[in-house]
Amino acid sequence: MDTILIVDDEKNYPLILSAVLQEEGYETLTAHSGIQALDILEHSDVDLVLTDMKMAEMDGIELLERVKEQNTELPVMMMTAHGTVEKAVEAMQKGAYNYILKPFDNEQLIIYINKAMAMYRVVKENMALRSVVESKYSFGNLIGKSKVMRDIYETIRKVAPATATVLIEGASGTGKELVAKSIHFNSQRRNKPFVAVNCSALAESLLESELFGHEKGAFTGAVAMKKGRFEIADGGTLFLDEIGELSASLQVKLLRVLQEKVFERVGGVRPISVNIRLIAATNKSLKQEIHEGRFREDLFYRLNVVHIVLPPLKSRLEDIRPLVAHFIQKYTDQRHSQVAVTHVDQQVERLFYEYSWPGNVRELENVIERAMVMCAGNGIELTDLPKDFRQNVSKDNSFQLEGLPAQTTLYKALAHVEKEMILRALRKTNFVQSHAANLLGIGKSGLNQKIKKHGIQIPSTPSSEH
Ligand SMILES: Nc1ncnc2c1ncn2[C@@H]1O[C@H](COP(=O)(O)OP(=O)(O)OP(=O)(O)O)[C@@H](O)[C@H]1O
Ligand SMILES: [Mg+2]
Repeated sequence: MDTILIVDDEKNYPLILSAVLQEEGYETLTAHSGIQALDILEHSDVDLVLTDMKMAEMDGIELLERVKEQNTELPVMMMTAHGTVEKAVEAMQKGAYNYILKPFDNEQLIIYINKAMAMYRVVKENMALRSVVESKYSFGNLIGKSKVMRDIYETIRKVAPATATVLIEGASGTGKELVAKSIHFNSQRRNKPFVAVNCSALAESLLESELFGHEKGAFTGAVAMKKGRFEIADGGTLFLDEIGELSASLQVKLLRVLQEKVFERVGGVRPISVNIRLIAATNKSLKQEIHEGRFREDLFYRLNVVHIVLPPLKSRLEDIRPLVAHFIQKYTDQRHSQVAVTHVDQQVERLFYEYSWPGNVRELENVIERAMVMCAGNGIELTDLPKDFRQNVSKDNSFQLEGLPAQTTLYKALAHVEKEMILRALRKTNFVQSHAANLLGIGKSGLNQKIKKHGIQIPSTPSSEH
């Protein structure tokens, strides 16, 4: 409920106004002086101040100024009698939301107040969004409040200043490149180049000269000397993406650079040494690649000095909310609508928690970007979601009867499904029962009863309930 603070030094007026505004569904507080009003503001959550202009001690203008010092966004409405209209103009210049001439029609006052409240609600939602995004849930451009992400921020903070090689593992779209950039921009090297090379994008011979450069005449078409990415990144960071795709012979060459810190351009003999920090990324498991004989173990150990693993989005559901808030903010500027998108509605949020996100954070970002275009109100609704995404979701959620025994009763089958769904929700939410209940769309006590009914064991220390 929104709260209005009424300030007037006449005893009866605030009482009458209170009754009128309460009738409209507002909560009211009253003060008989500016000082008392400031005191109330300090201790209570007020959404609008309605103040008389002419008061003994502190007048309305001074109160307005003091309120604005504390919170520039809080709407302040002035009530003025005839003869003080100039004061009203001054108040508007000093940031009052509006003024109303006494004696006034209650209807008119209510219209003004409703409008001011609607505006302030949007401002507050934006402030809340910003604080989610800017608070402890982020590290530079990296967003996420899950334990894994917070540990990653800590690792970045620790390793950034050093030159140790970093290996980042994670599926497509989990933010590997973003982590690599965070390391670079939190290091002393931040003013030197960050150079990225995708090892899977080029054929072997091209990749070699891309990395190490070539001398004039090194091969057909090498009409001039060209510096490679290692040299271009000198003093900065070299990011080798998809390192798991590197051919056997390039693995040997890279290993040599890491061991001896020198290389030659293709077709050249002069040893070149550079000062770079190397970060490598892969969406494959290099351990597995080693096991299958496709990746050199010695190179792996050279790269894997610091190891960062980015888990898939579906295993860190707590990150979804802050990421959604972040992407809404990111794409707000591109909208041509007057209406600010501030959130996703509950159904959408539930679907986001349920979905498996094979494209991880990149997929979530695309969904929000496209939904923002469709969204006409403040909240993104199911119908705003891109059609192909909705199809993916329904495929993802399509129900499988395979796990059920062929000979069973409907009752037993339903009980089986219920238990599986509950287990899945609990696992997804790290056994935080209130979150699992949300996910399942049932109440917490309902969930609790079902847990007992199915004899589901809850680990003794579920992660924190917040
Ligand atoms: N934690 C995060 N916070 C904010 N944005 C993120 C986060 N993780 C990923 N993104 C965004 O998702 C997109 C994909 O991230 P990025 O390119 O770093 O992923 P990747 O792991 O390198 O993917 P790929 O393997 O497909 O190259 C980018 O637009 C990035 O800004
Ligand atoms: Mg990438």
